[in-house]
Amino acid sequence: MINLPNLPFADNALEPFISEETIGYHYYKHHAAYVNKLNELIKGTEFDKMSLSSIIRESDGAVFNNAAQVFNHTFYWKSLSSTKSAPSGKLLNKINDDFGSVEVLKEEFIKAGSTLFGSGWVWLVREPKGQLMLKQTQNAHTPLSSNLVPLFVCDVWEHAYYIDYKNLRLKYLEEFWKHINWDFAGEAYDKTDNHVFIGTEACNDIHDPFCEILDDLQNQDRVTS
Ligand SMILES: [Fe+2]
Repeated sequence: MINLPNLPFADNALEPFISEETIGYHYYKHHAAYVNKLNELIKGTEFDKMSLSSIIRESDGAVFNNAAQVFNHTFYWKSLSSTKSAPSGKLLNKINDDFGSVEVLKEEFIKAGSTLFGSGWVWLVREPKGQLMLKQTQNAHTPLSSNLVPLFVCDVWEHAYYIDYKNLRLKYLEEFWKHINWDFAGEAYDKTDNHVFIGTEACNDIHDPFCEILDDLQNQDRVTS
């Protein structure tokens, strides 16, 4: 059984960027519904005892959609902070190497978010050789399916911003940029910044450093009783 992780901040902590009303729908209704539906679908199946990342990698159809949406939303909340932060350390150096500057990354991120057609997600990811890149995924799709390690993600489904921004996705993306949890992104980067990085496909392998991040998330997902 998969549990709904607690929000890493108070319901009103992100106001006015994200209102408590939006949290009321997005976390308490949408995210919770994916968790509930997933548990309904996997009850009594081979997925029931699997970790969330294993379910995502080994399922398709409705099970995949709901499992991936559970992970994507958990990662989205982790990507946000009410405290202003900025990229630093190794991640900052890598952004400068791969994008030229943080400002260029910001411009490309906002462009990726505003040009994604329909519902989906925009991620900063590392590909297996370590290169940073922006990745758009449609609907429930997630980098965990394609050997990419996420560092942060923005939810661009309309339910993420419509109450607060109506149809102004661009404005939401600009505000999102100001609320990225760079400490979390930096931690995710540092945990995967070494020469033995082999990607998320091998997450059952204890030598895969990204497993630590997934384990942190999944420990919150699991019912402990
Ligand atoms: Fe969402």
